[in-house]
Amino acid sequence: MRDTKIWKGNSTFILAAAGSAVGLGNIWKFPYMVGSNGGSAFVIVYLICILAIGLPVMASEIFIGKFGRKSPINSLKKISNEIHISESWKFLGVLGSLAGILILSYYSVFAGMAFSYVFNLFPSGLENPSSYSSAHFFKLSSSPLNLIFWHSLFLIITCLIVGAGVVKGIGRSVNILMPILFLFIVLLSFYSASTGDLNATISFLFSPNFSLLTPNVILSAMGQAFFSLSIGMGAIMAYGAYMPDKQQIGKTVLTIILLDTFVALSAGIAIFPIVFSNSSLEVSAGPGLIFETLPVAFYSLPMGALFSIIFFILITIAALSSAISLLEPFTAWMEEVFGIKRRTIVFLIGIFIWLLGIGSIFSFNIWSDIKFMNLNFLEFIDYFTNNIMLPLGGLFIAILVGWMLPREFVKENIKMKEGSFRVFILFLKYISTSSIFLVFLYSLL
Ligand code: PHE
Repeated sequence: MRDTKIWKGNSTFILAAAGSAVGLGNIWKFPYMVGSNGGSAFVIVYLICILAIGLPVMASEIFIGKFGRKSPINSLKKISNEIHISESWKFLGVLGSLAGILILSYYSVFAGMAFSYVFNLFPSGLENPSSYSSAHFFKLSSSPLNLIFWHSLFLIITCLIVGAGVVKGIGRSVNILMPILFLFIVLLSFYSASTGDLNATISFLFSPNFSLLTPNVILSAMGQAFFSLSIGMGAIMAYGAYMPDKQQIGKTVLTIILLDTFVALSAGIAIFPIVFSNSSLEVSAGPGLIFETLPVAFYSLPMGALFSIIFFILITIAALSSAISLLEPFTAWMEEVFGIKRRTIVFLIGIFIWLLGIGSIFSFNIWSDIKFMNLNFLEFIDYFTNNIMLPLGGLFIAILVGWMLPREFVKENIKMKEGSFRVFILFLKYISTSSIFLVFLYSLL
């Protein structure tokens, strides 16, 4: 790999990986899942999963990428050749790169919707802001053209960034976007904590109530940890290839995980106090929590319009820095194989993703009744990627690094301290592998 494809300094890799991890999963999905899964019990299991599964699997992905210095598919090929095991391990990269494309196709639709909310200002003096909000959401989601517009806009921006290259596109954009994101999330948490009901939020998020701990809660917390950390599909592996030689994997993974968890919890602190402050609103509103419920809460608060705009810019930025990482694995592979310009590749893949996205858009309206296995198009892609492709990818990564690669080989190349390395291997081999296996099995039932 040419040196031009390695990020300078330690911060770009951390920002890019944290940018991939922090996304709709943290700001949109995490709060509504906490809300509909009973609060603190979910949060605690989620945190345990992040540490027991997330940390070792993410470190393994970075390790493979950094060792291979190529796209996930070719890094996996290189590492299997190096230790003389079957080259078929590269199909793990194929599975992941395809998952990235499939996820991006609907991710872009939701991100586009969030982007449109930056411009959704409620008129003043509304008598019933709740019904206004529901009507607005209905108007947006029932109009294919509206949704296509925002989906296209978001996808074009994503493609432009990835097309501009690893250093000038991805590297530069995360250096601009991520500081804004962190600033906004802190600002919003302070605003929300000072204007809304912080006490109710703290006890909702943190006071343990284990009676609510059902197998279902445990398993959805695990799935959420997976999606939120971007593990199992090679996004972090692709970025691992651009990590500077000297950067330490162990410390870096800890930083990324801390940042991701910090943003997820801050999103809870930014959202719940204002939802709790309005007794007519429900924290268990589900996926509509930020699109239908939250705007109503903002409406009744001082400077609510301003903070609503800040909130939706924040989500758009978070989604953008994740979207570029969904596109990168496949792009990097095509660049290696066909040797054509990144811009051309991204343009071609972009058209394909755009078309798939239209399918998800139609699932909100004209195709809402067309079902396969009782799921519409969007639900099917979401189910197939999150419940099958990502866990399968994560499981095989854990098996490859924990069980297939010789321990000495991993130890020599991952460069962790002796004690940390032992804990890492122990978790990866036994805890991560078996718990991912369980989630996977459960999701198939
Ligand atoms: N982690 C991202 C989020 O929380 C989603 C994502 C999944 C991004 C997989 C890349 C790979 O929204």
